[in-house]
Amino acid sequence: MDASPHSSNCSQKEVKGKTRANYETQWGRYDERIAAERRLNNSPVADPLLRTIMPLTGKTMIDLGVGTGGFAFRAMELSPPERMIGVDFSSRALHVSKAVADAQPFTDMDFEGVLGDLERLPLADRCADVILSQASFNLLPDKSAGMKEMARIAKPGAKMVLSDAFRARRKCEGEPWEACVAGAVTVAEFSTLALSAGIIISHQIDFTPRVTQLVKSKKWDWPEFIEHRLDYRGFVMFKA
Ligand SMILES: C[S@@+](CC[C@H](N)C(=O)[O-])C[C@H]1O[C@@H](n2cnc3c(N)ncnc32)[C@H](O)[C@@H]1O
Repeated sequence: MDASPHSSNCSQKEVKGKTRANYETQWGRYDERIAAERRLNNSPVADPLLRTIMPLTGKTMIDLGVGTGGFAFRAMELSPPERMIGVDFSSRALHVSKAVADAQPFTDMDFEGVLGDLERLPLADRCADVILSQASFNLLPDKSAGMKEMARIAKPGAKMVLSDAFRARRKCEGEPWEACVAGAVTVAEFSTLALSAGIIISHQIDFTPRVTQLVKSKKWDWPEFIEHRLDYRGFVMFKA
């Protein structure tokens, strides 16, 4: 399968359609219990990033590609913000997120799920104090659009924490897009995209050994990460 958006027979729209269908199926197997397990398993990656932006009291926080809330609800556990908005184009993801939000201990917190595309966010300019995104950015066929949208919804000075897979090696033919592989860029490419959108990277963490360990111990179901020898990095950034 060649799911590259640049291939002549697979448009960006088709790539997104496949990605969405894949996640509708994946999140279809999830409920609050499995989402909580995933959140706990991913916490060795999420927690160090979240600690750089705490306390979140009084803040409006937006999770881009919220899925079942692995990052968003972990933030709510560690330091509850005033408002949490989770954006995803999978309606099944938002269904499970809503169930998690309605469950203890989140009942008193304001969580809003928004169905939308990260390349064209249905959100107002400068509405976010803090932005989160975990393992979602590399699924965007148009990363420049995604980065610009992130900058548009951020208030000046807003902090952003993003983590994702990156490639240190040359891209190969036939890599799967939906498994967060074919869309992975290099750190240099990512830094250029951020800077062009007016986003400054203040800190970078290499989570590769930690993610490798999580995958090997079956706490992160992502065999492609090891198979395609990806890196996993976290970035702390702010809107200039
Ligand atoms: C690997 S999951 C990560 C979910 C969550 N951030 C976590 O860490 O558990 C990627 C998520 O991004 C969403 N996604 C991918 N491309 C998207 C797009 N163009 N617009 C909105 N959501 C997208 C998928 O539906 C999926 O829920």
